[in-house]
Amino acid sequence: MVANDGIDLTVEEGEIHALLGENGAGKTTLMNVLYGLYHADEGEILLDGEPRRLASPRDAIDAGIGMVHQHFMLVPVFTVAENVMLGMEPTSRFGLLNRARARHQVRALSQRYGLAVDPDALVEDLPVGVQQRVEIVKALLREAKVLILDEPTAVLIPQETEELFEVMRSLKASGHSILFITHKLKEVLPVADVITVLRGGRVVGSTVPGETSEQELASMMVGRTVLLRVAKEPANPQEVVLDVDGLTVLDDRGQVWVDQLSLRVRSGEILAIAGVQGNGQTELVEALTGLRPVAGGTVRLDGNSLTGVHPRGVLRAGVGHVPEDRVKNGLVATFSVAENLVLDTYDTAPFAHGLVMDLDTVDRTAGERAREFDIRTPSIRTAVGTLSGGNQQKVIIARELSRPIKLLIASQPTRGLDVGSIEYVHRRIVEARDQGAAVLIVSSELDEVLALADRIAVMCGGRIVGERPAGADRDEIGLLMAGAGTAGQGGGQTDGEADAEAR
Ligand SMILES: Nc1ncnc2c1ncn2[C@@H]1O[C@H](COP(=O)(O)OP(=O)(O)OP(=O)(O)O)[C@@H](O)[C@H]1O
Ligand SMILES: [Mg+2]
Repeated sequence: MVANDGIDLTVEEGEIHALLGENGAGKTTLMNVLYGLYHADEGEILLDGEPRRLASPRDAIDAGIGMVHQHFMLVPVFTVAENVMLGMEPTSRFGLLNRARARHQVRALSQRYGLAVDPDALVEDLPVGVQQRVEIVKALLREAKVLILDEPTAVLIPQETEELFEVMRSLKASGHSILFITHKLKEVLPVADVITVLRGGRVVGSTVPGETSEQELASMMVGRTVLLRVAKEPANPQEVVLDVDGLTVLDDRGQVWVDQLSLRVRSGEILAIAGVQGNGQTELVEALTGLRPVAGGTVRLDGNSLTGVHPRGVLRAGVGHVPEDRVKNGLVATFSVAENLVLDTYDTAPFAHGLVMDLDTVDRTAGERAREFDIRTPSIRTAVGTLSGGNQQKVIIARELSRPIKLLIASQPTRGLDVGSIEYVHRRIVEARDQGAAVLIVSSELDEVLALADRIAVMCGGRIVGERPAGADRDEIGLLMAGAGTAGQGGGQTDGEADAEAR
């Protein structure tokens, strides 16, 4: 398969160049070629007019190219300075880099580009937005002139995204070039100088923000008109399916993340939990799906206790789960697309009779689902770990929405998906609701919450701090989210608690 086909791309000095394209279009592949991780079969890469051979990341770094991957490559128990020093050999042109010098340089770079990174902080204590900036410091310290950022904003809250854009602008002002990949069209127009769109491994067009719109970019990406909002009828809620009462959840260190929380979701309605990430949403979902113990309170599904039930038992009881961390909880990377599509049902009919797995049925069903959900994969036998990020997400969604469920719990369901796929997944979630499922969505994307929800509950400091009906005012929800403070960030849970007590 050809992942990149005759791509011509020119990036000027001091330019922010956005790269758009649907899931599997070849964006990450192209960046991996530039960073020396993959090798192009044809074509060449010129830097400052000179052809360069980039056979490894080391070559790329020497050529002044830096890359921040979506999964950061930092060592959690090391400090920022220690992480930045890692891999910088004494024999390199930087000379011996001792700790004092590394700290000094981190501080200097941090000041120069407004990165706000403390060289002595432990990486594991840092919010994800700061960890990302550590990666940027790392690249800058290696004298990167061209910086590749692959979906950097997918994991950021809006405030962090703004901060990142400030950093990008100051890098640009000092002559750096930035290749910026994103699926969030709204971000592209204010920050990019040039926008290139890929489809099917080819460049389909290049434009500048002044001459295009979100709608046009969406059409260029997927080759058809995309509805940038969800069409849905008002909900028709029936009996209570999920009944959570006084739920308390602790983390491994005994800190309270979910604080006597109660909520109910009825058949035929979508309850969306909005909130700044890090306010207990992750722990709530983990507890509901059996991935984390319940410290207090009860969880009931159709009146039956789910409290303390093992994850597999939860799925068996009729719960569909789209986890926040697809790599950790959603997929087995080395298994095929087909196997992953039936992961939680493989040992039941129609996929198995007794102990024998019916491979024909597995394959046929997998093929149908891949088509239905537009999963771009060379074959259903391909290992799921080699698919593009968005296509991995689609495998999980397809699996969880294709079996009979009473309750769907979906965390950040469309993270990493292109606009066309978001449209489709949103439609399927509404369909599940209309067929009588109770749906609980957890999303830090306010747009997604407003588009899908029949009711919106705002979570802050481990509690529900407010509830609003569908069609609620965006600013009001935003205020509620910020409400008890931006405290939840990076272990700020105690602050959240203090605020809760103060009320
Ligand atoms: N490590 C790999 N080995 C083999 N094929 C790969 C590998 N990584 C990606 N591909 C294939 O290359 C194609 C392009 O994938 P790529 O990851 O570049 O897409 P993308 O544009 O970054 O999509 P997304 O928006 O979903 O991240 C896909 O068909 C994918 O299956
Ligand atoms: Mg990608």
